[in-house]
This record gives sequence, structure tokens and C-alpha cells, in this order.
Amino acid sequence: MSTAPVSFSPVRGMRDFYPEDMLWRNRVFDAWRSASAAFGFQPYDACVVESLELLQRKSGEEVSEQIYHFEDKSGRRLALRPEMTPTLARMIAARRGSLAFPVKWFTTAQCFRYERMTRGRKREHYQWNMDIVGEQAVTAEVEILAAAAAALQMMGMPDDSYKIHVNNRALLAELLHNTGILPEHHPAVFLALDKRGKINDEEIEELLKAEGLGSEPIRRTFELLEVQTLDQAEALAGQDSPAVRRLRELFTLARLYGIDDRLVFDISVIRGLAYYTDIVFEAFDIGRRFRAIFGGGRYDNLLTTVGGDPTPAVGLGFGDVVIMEILKEMLGDQAASARSGVAVGYMFQEQRDAAMRLARKLRTDGEQVDVMLTHLKPKQFFARASAGTSAEAVFIGPDDVAKGVVRRKNLDTRAETEIRLPIA
Ligand code: HAM
Repeated sequence: MSTAPVSFSPVRGMRDFYPEDMLWRNRVFDAWRSASAAFGFQPYDACVVESLELLQRKSGEEVSEQIYHFEDKSGRRLALRPEMTPTLARMIAARRGSLAFPVKWFTTAQCFRYERMTRGRKREHYQWNMDIVGEQAVTAEVEILAAAAAALQMMGMPDDSYKIHVNNRALLAELLHNTGILPEHHPAVFLALDKRGKINDEEIEELLKAEGLGSEPIRRTFELLEVQTLDQAEALAGQDSPAVRRLRELFTLARLYGIDDRLVFDISVIRGLAYYTDIVFEAFDIGRRFRAIFGGGRYDNLLTTVGGDPTPAVGLGFGDVVIMEILKEMLGDQAASARSGVAVGYMFQEQRDAAMRLARKLRTDGEQVDVMLTHLKPKQFFARASAGTSAEAVFIGPDDVAKGVVRRKNLDTRAETEIRLPIA
């Protein structure tokens, strides 16, 4: 065995969560769980290890190149999942005969991607996934977007602090078709255009040329990205465009759900995953200083790709990294100062049993109790209680045991009440 000192840092790109970090993480996870429940989604889960074959797609997506993979001792080709959607598709396909569609499922999945590390991007993150499988109507999209908006509200994000940018890949497909670009080139064109902002336009042009596009179609493709409004898009696509109709319906329904103030049409939202077929969306902070808060869309063909029956589906992935960066900046240490429960201490060994009995009684009553494990001087006890997470403190001395009552002190306001000590 090597005797070299072990680094105390986590592996590059991975995170440790100390108790103070967990306050932030719980704030986010609690909102995800509550919003899922409020919108009637059922929880599911799966192992972080998947078969590499399920995850790999030959589409030139960034995510396929970022997979952490390995062989197990029996030579199976395995991977740490970079996203949850293929696993969900596999699980749905496995039960296709017995599920009552549409299903509404959610999970918080840890995902791994060997990314170039930048702000908002780690090599491991937790991702809230909500998916509706088996529903064609745009009501499914709105339900998911409204649940995400509800989660953001629960975390303390004001409604005017972010926007959900919405587009439809089917609209882009119609417009590309009008410019003479055949459907077989569309997936590659989508992935190339999604790189806008990450690489320069000349590099995108090279990708489009490599796909076999001539300079005139390339020029017209870039022109499409200048479209600003849904009316302009409709003027190009035609009034009977099904893709425009679905977007209009989405905006109408958003009004009903009270989230229309946060939705904007944005033709540049394309998404970097190949499986999306129709409406796609990404949420950003209003100043666009951070990476996407969440992203998702409709993927009506993925179930067939993994071998299942054709099944429409729509879903979202909402990571914990970007939102925690935003919340920390917006809320300062508000979240980190959350105190609850009561600390119980005692002055001498003789009061230990009284303290333990009180702790047991309070816990039975449903309170969170942090009982000291040894006797402490009053100053030591109150210093420890104040530095901890308890909101209140009870300190038992010899006189308290004799009287059978003790004071319960609020550590913030210093207000005191008297409580009875349980009798042996
Ligand atoms: P995605 O856009 O690749 O979509 O990821 C969704 C979200 O996960 C991002 O918006 C971001 O919040 C977070 N995220 C992704 N990669 C990282 C990273 N390296 N570090 C930190 N956060 C990250 C998907 O994964 C789709 N499977 C979502 C989906 C579900 N579509 C339909 N259902």
C-alpha cells in the first residue's frame, strides 16, 4: 500500500456536502419533492449504473461523449448514467403491458458527465426529472412547466427573476424543410445550431458543411435564427403549421395556469439531446448570467428507440448546481441560518438521567432534540447550543431536578418558558 498522503479534496468535479451545504441542498430537494406531490407525480428510482449500450447514441451529442464508463469483472460494458431519460424509457418499456397511461413520474437522480468544468457545470449533479409518458396533448407540457415554476417559487425565486424560453423543434423542421434541407439532415442541424454561443458561427458552418449542406441553405438556416416572435415564425411556416398551433396552445394554457408571464418564445432554444421531437424549453435567470436552470421537452420517439411501443412523452431535467449558485447569490445566508429543535444539556453527571428522560419525552412529542452526551458547564453548553442548529435550549442543574421544573430558552429572542421535568 502507498504511504503517500491522501488528498482531502473530493475527486475533481465531484462535490462533498457538509452539513451547512445540506441546508441549501435540502431547500432545493424539498421544493422538488413538494412540487412533484402538488402536481400528482409519483416517485420512481433506479441504480446509477446502467448498461452503456442503452446510454450511447450515435448522434454526435455532447452527452454521449461525456459518459463515465467501465467494464465489470464479467466484461459487461457499464456506465454511470449521464441523465435519467434513457433509464425511464427502459423502465416504461419493460412494463408497457401493465401501465395505465399517461404516467406522471418524478425522481431526483444523481448523474455523471465528464464535462469541461465551467461555472454551473460539475462532473456530478443531482437532477430532478419529471416526465409524463403516454400523453400527446400540450396539457402535459404545461403541467410540467407549472410544476417547475411552483418548485422555483417554493425555493424563494421571485416570479420575475427568471424566464422559460420555449421553442418547437417541429417548427424548425418545417422551416428547414422550406429552405430545402431534407429531414434526414435535421437532427445534425439541430445539434449544430444548439452549439451557438458555445462555439463561433464559422465552426457551426463547418459542422453544417460536413453534414453536406450547401452555402445557400446554410445562409438561410442562420437567417431562421433571427426570427423574434411567434407571429414572424407563423408568417414563414404558414397559418396551418401544426408546430405553431401547438406553441399557441401552450401559451394559452400557460395563462390558465398563471405562468404566462414567465414564458417567452425563443427560436434559438434547440437543446443538445437528439431525441427531442417537438416542444423544447429551457429556463434562465433574468440577467442570463448563469447556465440553464432547467431544460426539457417532448421526445415522442425515444420509447421506440429503446425497443418499446411508440409512446408520446415529455419531461424536464432540473439540476441542483445552477439553482444553488443563483439562490446563494440571491438569498445570501438566509437559508443557512435555519434553526429548529431544542438542545438539552446538564450540569453534572447526577442530572444526566433527568436530561435523557426529558429528551425522550420531547422526542416522543415529535420535537427534534439534540441532547448533550456529557455534562457541561452552563457557558460551554450555551456556546455549543448557539453554534449548533437548535432554536431553543434547556439546561438542567441540581436545583431544577429538585423543583421538577426547568426553563426553556429561545436562543434568538432569549424569551423563556418553564416546563416540567418528567418523573422517573
Ligand atoms: P439536460 O439539459 O442535459 O437535459 O440537463 C438538464 C439540466 O441538468 C440542466 O438544465 C442543468 O440544470 C443540469 N445539468 C446537466 N448537466 C450538468 C452538469 N454537468 N453540471 C451541473 N448541472 C447539469 C437532460 O438531461 C434531459 N434528460 C432532461 C429531460 C428529462 N428531458 C426529458 N425528460
